[in-house]
Amino acid sequence: MPPHPSGPARLDGQVAFITGAAGGMGRAIAAVLRDAGARVVATDVHEHADLGADIGYHRCDVTSREHTEQVIDGALAQHGRIDILVLCAGVIARTPLAQSTDEEWETMLSVNVLGVVNPARKLFPLMCAQGFGKILAAGSIAAKNGGVASGPAYVASKAAVHGMVRWMAKAGAPHGVYANTLAPGPVETAMWARVTGATGAPAAQATVPLGRYGTAEDIAQAALFLCSPASNWITGTSLDISGGMWMD
Ligand SMILES: NC(=O)c1ccc[n+]([C@@H]2O[C@H](COP(=O)([O-])OP(=O)(O)OC[C@H]3O[C@@H](n4cnc5c(N)ncnc54)[C@H](O)[C@@H]3O)[C@@H](O)[C@H]2O)c1
Repeated sequence: MPPHPSGPARLDGQVAFITGAAGGMGRAIAAVLRDAGARVVATDVHEHADLGADIGYHRCDVTSREHTEQVIDGALAQHGRIDILVLCAGVIARTPLAQSTDEEWETMLSVNVLGVVNPARKLFPLMCAQGFGKILAAGSIAAKNGGVASGPAYVASKAAVHGMVRWMAKAGAPHGVYANTLAPGPVETAMWARVTGATGAPAAQATVPLGRYGTAEDIAQAALFLCSPASNWITGTSLDISGGMWMD
């Protein structure tokens, strides 16, 4: 394996592929990686999205293996390689167990779990072959604390993401491929607004030790750390970004 000494959080010359990039966190991560010097290929399930200057956008439904592989092939044809894979596509469900439906479980598993598996299954071996890659997936503190405002299907799907990432970290390490998970607490994006829409969000002062909910920028700066050479002796970890709601 080539040596990868840790260094500044710059990504000049690297290519990043992001799923769920039209969402709150994905959008912020795309901008931060671009500002750090990466060429960014942003994808989401929507036909069109404007991610800002110098960020190419392509539709990619991560639940379809075939479609995802086509989009990745297109990015490889355009850029020659992909160094960074950020997996942000996700959906939430909050129905309690007894009321949860087959359909809800299937949606959670196909978007949140297969939506990580499909891009990773294509890019992980390519990254191993090129001797370098950084994979970062959006997990959740829900996988650790049983959920803040989420149901069992969401919690189980995020626990699967954490496990899948650990597998890639172990299998990828000898080939220079890193894999880590972000474990955010409640972050003020469209997803959090959907979850709290009907009942309203509980006061952050009462629930978050640092006294506020997270912002997409809080997550994006942590993502840059885990995608960059600043974290070159870190793999297989899950980084809690929760204002102290979860402390390991
Ligand atoms: N917001 C939070 O509080 C929070 C906390 C912990 C973890 N997360 C996780 O972080 C990730 C990003 O969440 P967010 O808060 O930015 O939510 P968001 O709803 O703003 O963004 C999620 C994005 O995923 C996309 N998506 C959904 N289905 C897709 C599909 N089949 N193919 C491709 N893209 C698809 C959506 O279009 C959306 O743009 C998610 O995986 C979420 O579960 C969020």
